[in-house]
Amino acid sequence: MIGRRDFLRNSLASAACVLLAGGASRLGWGESKLVDARIEVLTGEPLGTISPNIYGHFAENLSGVIYDGIWVGANSKVPNVDGIRKELIDEMRKIKAPVVRFPGGCFADSYDWRDGVGPADKRPRRTNFWNGGETSAAPASHSYDPNQFGTNEFAHFCKLIGAEPYLAANLRSLPAEEFFRWVEYCNSPAGSTTLADARGAGGFKDPFNVRFWGVGNESWGCGGNFTAQEYAVEFRRFTTWVPRYGKERDELSFIGSGPNVDDWAWTRGFFEEMAKKGRWQLRSVYGWALHHYAWNLSRGKTRDWIQGKADALKFDSVDWYELLREGDRMEGLINGHWQVMGEEDPEHSVKLVVDEWGPWYKPGSAATPGDQLEQTPTLRDGVFSGMTLDLFNRHPEKIAMANCAQLINCLNSLYLAHEDQFVVTPVGHVFAMYAAHQGGQGLRTIFSAPTIDYDRDGKPASFWGLKGSASLRDKEMTLTVVNPHVSDAREAEIVVRGAGIKAGSATVLTHSDIHAHNTFEDRRAVVPETKSLQFAGQGLRYTFAPASVTKLALTLA
Ligand code: AHR
Repeated sequence: MIGRRDFLRNSLASAACVLLAGGASRLGWGESKLVDARIEVLTGEPLGTISPNIYGHFAENLSGVIYDGIWVGANSKVPNVDGIRKELIDEMRKIKAPVVRFPGGCFADSYDWRDGVGPADKRPRRTNFWNGGETSAAPASHSYDPNQFGTNEFAHFCKLIGAEPYLAANLRSLPAEEFFRWVEYCNSPAGSTTLADARGAGGFKDPFNVRFWGVGNESWGCGGNFTAQEYAVEFRRFTTWVPRYGKERDELSFIGSGPNVDDWAWTRGFFEEMAKKGRWQLRSVYGWALHHYAWNLSRGKTRDWIQGKADALKFDSVDWYELLREGDRMEGLINGHWQVMGEEDPEHSVKLVVDEWGPWYKPGSAATPGDQLEQTPTLRDGVFSGMTLDLFNRHPEKIAMANCAQLINCLNSLYLAHEDQFVVTPVGHVFAMYAAHQGGQGLRTIFSAPTIDYDRDGKPASFWGLKGSASLRDKEMTLTVVNPHVSDAREAEIVVRGAGIKAGSATVLTHSDIHAHNTFEDRRAVVPETKSLQFAGQGLRYTFAPASVTKLALTLA
């Protein structure tokens, strides 16, 4: 292995790759390095199409996410398009944002969609669900929802960025009729209903054609505190007759409020209860929402939600690995819930929708003090996000959508903003790098590398040495790889079975300091660098920087 300092000196100056031609190697830093890892991409073993929606987002009406983050208002000095922050629109177009979930989260189950439509100056102010956690440093709009950003503004935002809207309906505190009416408001054709007229009067004559509807959120907790069986009954009631205005069966895709982490009983309870009226009932469920946050960095000392959390900016290398380990549980959760879902749905017509994921740290690192749940993502969170997106890419047959929590000014945010300040975080850069996977054919890829061993408070612990994912569109292959080692580069032999490589480039996100992060003052502390690779042949050797996310864009012969 190669040390962090040597790596940075040698490799970032020159592309760290070499053609494997007749066994001859031309490594940028000498001939003596051992290839101790191997990546084999099997072009003949497709896994399924990677849904672009795996690269989805989540924007809850929570503290600075909507008010200040997305919505600045049309009269703001902050450059905006119809009140929506322009820099955010520009960035989200770049990353090909496919879908955005709104308005919550827990907020959704206390939201009356009618408050957020109609003339803006007539809309009521309401107590925000998150009111209790706001401090005096926060603006009034965070405690008392001014309802300036409602359904119209959200649909407009989605249109501006080229994404599909995903609305989460209120199951806890509104009746099923209001769900029906919200769908009618959004989707009934121009001039067809009173609600379509109301939409038109607001400047939106054409229907929004909202396809994705969350039926409640975390219904096991803030969304109503139901049992799985009670929730299944509510789900059936809410979704039994909802208006469709076209002919497509999937014109409306209902997403059930799924489990928290490894709550297998919630998944089993819901599926069994649904199936009591016949397994065909499950055909009304498009997706089953799984939530998993990586928050417990206590190294096994506690399971307390407050005590278990650690700092976003101050951490040591053990914290780094512990966070990745917590996040890496996602793969077992996907496989486990998929298996349980298969007990009543053996054909797997219901897919997983991981509509909340990311690290969750203790308060204290907000770029805008007073923003509840806001944290500053570092390189660690960029690596975490690359690892998670790779993991989703490896299960295209199971995952229909995923939504990173949350888009801006919140947990694992792609962007931080306050008034006229805006910055792309390492998480945002990773989403840009990985956009090339969207809609590609996932390919089975075998990673083999020595594990990383570390000391977890006197006990041995380990984490995998190299992982990633590959996808193909025509002749363009995208191979993304995470090297989680805090200090050592990892050299790997990369073999693409069944194809040669004509050309390629490497884009790397890393930094010599694992705590590195972007701020309003230093917006480019952590940015990806791209270098072209020169080779022509079957395979290559590449040295992955320590603590890095790498995208290899390879043109196959
Ligand atoms: O993302 C913050 C909160 O986390 C969401 O509102 C809720 O669904 C989850 O518990």
